Amino acid sequence: MRNILVTGGAGFIGSHLVDRLLSEGDWRITVVDDLNDFYDPAIKRANIAEHLQSERYRLVEADIRDDEALGRIFEETKFDVIAHLAARAGVRPSLSEPKLYTETNINGTVNLLELAREHGVKQFVFGSSSSVYGVNEKVPFAEDDPISQPISPYAATKAAGELICHTYSHLYDIRCICLRFFTVYGARQRPDLAIHKFSKLITEGKPIQVFGDGTARRDYTYIDDIIQGVRAAIDYDRSIYEVFNLGESQTIELSRLISLLERALDMNAIIDRQPMQPGDVPTTFADISKSRKLLGYNPTTKIEEGIPKFVEWFLGTGGQG
Ligand SMILES: NC(=O)c1ccc[n+]([C@@H]2O[C@H](COP(=O)([O-])OP(=O)(O)OC[C@H]3O[C@@H](n4cnc5c(N)ncnc54)[C@H](O)[C@@H]3O)[C@@H](O)[C@H]2O)c1
Repeated sequence: MRNILVTGGAGFIGSHLVDRLLSEGDWRITVVDDLNDFYDPAIKRANIAEHLQSERYRLVEADIRDDEALGRIFEETKFDVIAHLAARAGVRPSLSEPKLYTETNINGTVNLLELAREHGVKQFVFGSSSSVYGVNEKVPFAEDDPISQPISPYAATKAAGELICHTYSHLYDIRCICLRFFTVYGARQRPDLAIHKFSKLITEGKPIQVFGDGTARRDYTYIDDIIQGVRAAIDYDRSIYEVFNLGESQTIELSRLISLLERALDMNAIIDRQPMQPGDVPTTFADISKSRKLLGYNPTTKIEEGIPKFVEWFLGTGGQG
């Protein structure tokens, strides 16, 4: 049995990672999550309802900014791995609450790295973001492209997280693997993200706000593919520090995404066109050749297949998500 600490394990990506680890049978899983109200905490409770039935699972409701509460968890359990996914997510809200984002995403990460150092945890997987690339003119985005010009507080906190991970790997021999997730979707997707938000509005017959002219492009990554990459990072041992893109390596225009949703939902969207939002980048597009080579990452769900799967889940929840 190996012990893993999953921060943010009640959230969208974290709860899928817990599903995967529980299915493997040889993990003891501790989740730290404060179940905050960035979106309805009832959704997070539903995400973990089945997990709570397992005797190999433990939930600690705590805030990663609270290093004393975190310290008590590390006193009780010797972890082999930390998968650090807890964060204030979302680009746009970070513009109005930059302090909350930096305290959670930077200080919270340092708290965990400090405890990893104190307690001899040797493997640290960090949930970073494609937003660190900022307005990168060069596509697709490769891990060694510069990330020194983030355009939102959220992106800056993720870039800072990667830097502090590097420092701890160098100083204390903690293997840190930073994973840059490219817009993740699938069952339980956060309700603030476009695919989920649009589906809800379209089915309610309400207009969807489209920022810009619909040509903004995103590399949308299906949750099962992301989890495949995270799982590989948990066992990765070929170097002491790495950054990996986890994307689909397929970039889709917003207007095409809306058409795919309309087709899967069998309904038409009402478009409310708005100016491009500050902090939003025009394009994301992952070069995944490094992840393929070193992690064995192999995404398989194209958007044309993933959107109907998402919609099936969404409609199965009665449109409540
Ligand atoms: N979903 C995406 O498309 C995407 C893209 C890039 C990066 N990421 C990153 O992946 C990670 C998971 O994202 P997600 O989409 O699953 O988000 P999510 O909001 O569903 O999950 C994050 C979880 O962390 C918890 N959390 C937040 N602040 C906390 C704190 N101070 N203490 C303890 N727990 C706290 C939340 O309650 C939540 O359950 C985040 O780090 C996010 O920045 C996500």
